[in-house]
Amino acid sequence: MITLRGLGFSYPDSAEDDYALHSIDMEIADGSFCAVLGANGSGKSTLARILNALLLPCQGSLSVDGTQIDEPEAIRKIRCSVGMVFQNPENQIVADTVEQDVAFGPENLGLSNAEIRERTEKALCLMGLENLKKRNPRQLSGGQLQKLAIAGVLAMDCRYIVLDESLSMLDAQTKSEVLEPLKNLNEEKKLGIIMISHDIRDCIYADTVFVLDHGHLAMQGKAEAILERKDELRSLGIRC
Ligand SMILES: Nc1ncnc2c1ncn2[C@@H]1O[C@H](COP(=O)(O)OP(=O)(O)OP(=O)(O)O)[C@@H](O)[C@H]1O
Ligand SMILES: [Mg+2]
Repeated sequence: MITLRGLGFSYPDSAEDDYALHSIDMEIADGSFCAVLGANGSGKSTLARILNALLLPCQGSLSVDGTQIDEPEAIRKIRCSVGMVFQNPENQIVADTVEQDVAFGPENLGLSNAEIRERTEKALCLMGLENLKKRNPRQLSGGQLQKLAIAGVLAMDCRYIVLDESLSMLDAQTKSEVLEPLKNLNEEKKLGIIMISHDIRDCIYADTVFVLDHGHLAMQGKAEAILERKDELRSLGIRC
């Protein structure tokens, strides 16, 4: 479970009272598939970076599976528990072949060669990249690159994965090729999924929805109830 209590965040170069997130109370249950929606500038990426401790809260608390953000070793533990995929896959590629790129994360965890190979193969298969594993990532299409970035995070075997508008550049076919395996991992392995978007079509499998508005949590609840409130969602800048 990920818990945020009274969490506030202000960027160091912002004015003193200019908060990107205000007093956020949120619970992301184990094995949940949740969506975080919000207009441009509503604080989605800031929240994503807080969830995996790339940014640290200025106020309030964050805990991930019982680890409090202010404990010793918390940043390392939280970054292992919560994987992150960004919008732009080019920035996430680190190696010269698809296979090496996926293996990079597990290698840094100090695992055995057999375990690294197994995780890499599994993640490549899940994203449908097994036939491209010897390719240079620079030869891949945008959709294939995003699948590669997701495979790299899956190979880390995190408990949660945050996708920060990671599907927004993908066509409908590629979106479903990414969403289906994520949904299966969510159902079968209880991988927690936090799908960040400004389009409810990316949230078809979400069980829980959070909506941000100017850094405030404006709506939260079960997906079927929230996604029905279309007028309110549109007034908060969500495409639906
Ligand atoms: N590095 C930064 N320094 C200062 N302010 C920032 C920084 N990054 C974001 N902000 C501000 O924080 C607020 C929230 O931004 P954030 O990027 O989290 O929103 P977002 O919902 O992800 O937007 P988008 O839909 O455009 O990705 C905005 O007012 C933004 O201008
Ligand atoms: Mg963003």
